[in-house]
Amino acid sequence: MAASDPKAAERAYYARLGPEGLAHVRRKPFGDERTGQYLADMGALLAMLEPPPRSVLDLGCGVGWTSRLLARAGYAVTGMDLAPESIQLGRELAAQEGLTDLQLLVGDYETAGPAGGFDYVLFYDALHHAADEAAALKTAWTALRSGGAMFAFEPGSGHNRSRLSRRAVEEFGVRERDMPPQRIWRLGRKVGFRRRLILPLPHDINRSLYRRDYHASSAAGRGWLEKLWGYYRAAGWMLRPRRGALTILWK
Ligand SMILES: C[S@@+](CC[C@H](N)C(=O)[O-])C[C@H]1O[C@@H](n2cnc3c(N)ncnc32)[C@H](O)[C@@H]1O
Repeated sequence: MAASDPKAAERAYYARLGPEGLAHVRRKPFGDERTGQYLADMGALLAMLEPPPRSVLDLGCGVGWTSRLLARAGYAVTGMDLAPESIQLGRELAAQEGLTDLQLLVGDYETAGPAGGFDYVLFYDALHHAADEAAALKTAWTALRSGGAMFAFEPGSGHNRSRLSRRAVEEFGVRERDMPPQRIWRLGRKVGFRRRLILPLPHDINRSLYRRDYHASSAAGRGWLEKLWGYYRAAGWMLRPRRGALTILWK
């Protein structure tokens, strides 16, 4: 795939994944060591959303694990993704889960979204794949009802240099860009969003708080070397720069 056409690469990504890659995305959020991260993020999202009945538009939904989770929690969800294979797989998985009301659509979030009135718009790990993120934010703004909120769980500065990002770009030619919250707010304001809240990613809190304390405590009562190692790890989690953020914008 020509790296010069990242949008075509995004569209073709799932078709090129191969059986192993597809088996992996089918299992999402349970396919790898990031399960805790995914569930922490969704737990925090559910803590913020008003209870159903409410509507959610999930942009760049991939195979729709977030859409399916929210639909199972009782929300009226529409998921949209550029890649036809991801939507096809998402529909199969939704049917297996008996989610007859969940709508999964093929579409480009930079061009247009489904007609409006949504209570919420979600970008989960998806806005930083846009060629024109201002256009994607405009789609989100247009789809929301007045007073509705957009949630963007995105990696921040340094994401494009990470090992996984570089591999995805080299292997598939997809787009992996930095998407710091200040940028989302600056562009969001221009398209009409009125208010913002920027929070650490929920799974980073789990790492820096729960994991740090757990490791420090489990080191207590052991030999001094192990104890020192425990504190060293704990400090590492605390000091590690938090690159990603959850950006919430209100219409
Ligand atoms: C890293 S994946 C995340 C998918 C999903 N949110 C998840 O958590 O599994 C980014 C997704 O954004 C989609 N995407 C990229 N550009 C898009 C666009 N212009 N319109 C709609 N979806 C797009 C890709 O096809 C891909 O599924």
